[in-house]
This record gives sequence, C-alpha cells and structure tokens, in this order.
Amino acid sequence: MEWKTIIEPFRIKSVEPLGFTTRQERLKLLEQSHYNLFNIRAEKVLIDLLTDSGTGAMSAAQWGGIMIGDESYAGARSYYNFENSIKDLTGYEEVIPVHQGRAAEHIIFSMIGGHGKYMVSNSHFDTTRANVEASGAEAVDFPAKGALDFDKPGPFKGNMDIEALEKFIKVKGAKNIPMCVMTVTNNSLGGQPVSMENLKSTQNICRKYGIPMFLDCARFAENAYFIKLREKGYNQTPVREIAQQMFELADGAMMSSKKDAFANMGGFLAMHNTEWAAKARQLLILTEGFNTYGGLAGRDLEAIAIGLREVLDENYLQYRIRSTAYMGEGLMRLGIPIVTPPGGHGVYVNAKKLMPHIKPQNFPATALAAALYLEGGIRGVGIGTLMFGRRNAKGDFLPADMELLRLAIPRRVYTQSHIDYVIEVFGHLVKNKKAIKGLEILEAPKALAHFTAKLRPISKGREDSVEGKGRRNKELLYPKP
Ligand code: F0G
Repeated sequence: MEWKTIIEPFRIKSVEPLGFTTRQERLKLLEQSHYNLFNIRAEKVLIDLLTDSGTGAMSAAQWGGIMIGDESYAGARSYYNFENSIKDLTGYEEVIPVHQGRAAEHIIFSMIGGHGKYMVSNSHFDTTRANVEASGAEAVDFPAKGALDFDKPGPFKGNMDIEALEKFIKVKGAKNIPMCVMTVTNNSLGGQPVSMENLKSTQNICRKYGIPMFLDCARFAENAYFIKLREKGYNQTPVREIAQQMFELADGAMMSSKKDAFANMGGFLAMHNTEWAAKARQLLILTEGFNTYGGLAGRDLEAIAIGLREVLDENYLQYRIRSTAYMGEGLMRLGIPIVTPPGGHGVYVNAKKLMPHIKPQNFPATALAAALYLEGGIRGVGIGTLMFGRRNAKGDFLPADMELLRLAIPRRVYTQSHIDYVIEVFGHLVKNKKAIKGLEILEAPKALAHFTAKLRPISKGREDSVEGKGRRNKELLYPKP
C-alpha cells in the first residue's frame, strides 16, 4: 500500500521555543527597525523564512560528530572525513575547505577574474556576482527562455539558454571567459532546477570552447531529486548517482555547505585542476586558514561530512520537495501569484502582481515582507527594487525586473502546522492587500542597500515620487554610476 500522506521523516529530540509577540508589539518593532526585517531580533520572529542558509536542524548523528571533531591545526581526522565525503560524491581530486560559499567564490574569482573577463552563468547568486565584479570581471547571466514568466510552470526553469551562451562566447572570445558557473538549483530565479540534459549541453559548449564549467552546488541534492522526479530516464536512478553524474559533467564545484549539507557554517571548493588548486591554497592560507581546516573548526568539518551523506536520503528529499510544494499550493489556492512551480528551497511570491497599487519605486516586495511580519510575525525577504534598483548613466531610475518575496524554508525545522499557519496569515493579508502601503527610503548606503536601508510607509501625496521627497533621499539611493 502506498500511503498518500508524506510525513516528516524524523522525530524531534530537541526543541526551541518560538518567539510569540502581539501585533501591537510588532508594529512598534517595525517602526524601531525602520521597516527593515534584517534589523529585527530573531527572537521576535515567530516563523523565520528569511533564509534556508545555515538555519537547518542537524541530526543526532551530526551532533555526535561534533563531539568527536578533531581540532588539530594540521592533518585533523575530521578534515579527512570531510575530504572523503566530498571525493565520494564529486569525484574531484582537490578539496579545499572554506568558511562559507562566498569565500570559495572570492578565492576562485580573484585568481581567474580581472578587467576584460566575463563569467557566464544560468544565473549568478548575489554574492557570486559581487565576487566576480570585485575582481574587475563582468558576471553575465543566460537564464532559459521563459524563466522570467513566473506564471507559466516548467520542469526545469533554472536552465541555461544554450544558444544565447554560445552567441556570447563567439562575440567576446573564449579566451576572455575563464569560467561558466551552473547554479543548481537556480536560487535567483525561484529555486528552479537545471536538467541533466541542460548540464550536458552546457558542458558540450564549454568543452568546444575550452571553458571550464563549475557547479555552484549549494542545493545540489534538491536539484538531483527534481531530475529524478521530472526528467525522462531518471525515475529509477538513485539520487546519489544522479548527483554524481552532475558533478562528473563539471570540472569543479563551489559549495555553501549551509544549505544541502545541513551545516550551520562551512563550504568548499573542489576541482580536478591541480594548478588552480595549488594557487587557491595559497590564497586560502592568506585569508581562511591552513589547507586542512580553511576557516572551519574540526567539528564543522565533521558535521558537513555527515550532512553530505544524509541529504541524499530519498525519504528526506521527498519530504523536502513536497513540503515546499505544499506551501506553494496553499498560497496558489488563495489566488496568490507565486513563481510556478514552487522551487526546492522556498516559495517566491510575486509582489508586483499581487499589489499593482504599489509602484516599484515604493518597493512592493519589501512592503509585503513588512506586512507579513506585522500580521503574523513571519519573516521573509524582498527580492526586488530595494536590492537591484539602479540609475543609468543619464540618471534615470531603473526598477528591478522582479518584485518577489522569498519564503525560504529551513531544512528539518518547521512542521506542517507551521506552514498551515503561514498560509492562514496570507489568507488574511490577501483580503486586505489594498491596505498594504509602499515604502520610502529614509537612509540607505550606496551598495547592498537592502541589508541596512531605513524605510518608512509612504505618506499620502508622495506615492508618485521616485525617491520620496525626504531631504536625505536624493544623495544616497541609486547614485549615478
Ligand atoms: N551560491 C548560492 C546559490 C547561494 O544561494 C548562496 C547563499 C551562496 C552561493 C553563498 O553562500 O552564504 O555560504 O556565503 N545563499 C544564501 C541565501 C545567503 O539566503 O540564499 P554563503
């Protein structure tokens, strides 16, 4: 008998209380934090969907590993467990531990980047893009056609647009493109997966032009499970083998182990290229630490080694992908537009479509995040104009292409009733959505504004102004390049 209820494939041994607050308290907290949820103390959040990064629950086996972590400076046993776990999975000979994903990005792009170079990708994640740009190179994305059509479902909306990629390589010259990065799953575009076929086609093009292909594999296991579910020919293949095939197609990988390794901290850079690895290790010693710990404690290495095996348990992945879909379906039933289908690690609400009364310059995604916190104590993150708004050389205001509220689900942390609660709060919000007001900037830094910007609800009569009429707005947000 195959039962239709998919259950959480774990029981709970250790619990933490949630932060209950009243609406009145939350209104005050919002005002104090200038409508920026990054400024709210986590203990004042009831359900925290800000990120799935470093927020997962570790297993008893991982906690056990932590107690026997070897903290030797050089040659620690925990490092060799870490290295073996990564080699078994990826097949790459060179394994370099780092304290988190962006450290791997910084090391590799400072080696191969520089002015006049281009990194190409299905979509660079923000920190990946920032590290490419910090090297002086340009980060160029080629998302599959239809990836930005959020209403239209597709099995592999994380794919690379192969034709556009090849055209670009021909125009810019392969010698100016030191790397192609395939982000699996594609976080920037809704946690959508990449198909094995697309990985193969991308690899063919990369090989034809001699460009190394690396995976940004923070969520490799979720991607592999989607391949099993959705791609022809894989429904009988164990997910572990699918993942191994994905790594085999690439020349190397960078990973934030804060996602699909269930660790609270950590990452790695792994590859075949011994010359690159030697250079990377020199930089590693400079900024992270010695080769066998790279910015991590021995206990972290141990937890990652175990987590990388656990994440390929198919009962876990079935529950993981199903629980994200459950939240997405609940919101869709309420008529809330989301990026369809729901992604692996979260649901992305289309705030632009939900609230056409809020103009992009009044940050619909951020305004929706504030409203969700106010009504239900739930924290998500706006991905829109506050993050990506720009001015062009002429000084014209350019809003972001999208206004999404990301609800990222931490791994093994919340149960179905928590998600039912989120859906119920959305039911209330959607009925009263006209009352949600846009926001205006009080103060914001020039770069990475969304983390620290101070905002307030826009007052009557100012809805049309691009920056609001506040005295301090003009010089700070979206400066002329
Ligand atoms: N690559 C991807 C696809 C990511 O999603 C992240 C982080 C990184 C690289 C960087 O890794 O945080 O360990 O330095 N994503 C987090 C998020 C922050 O919330 O999506 P990191």
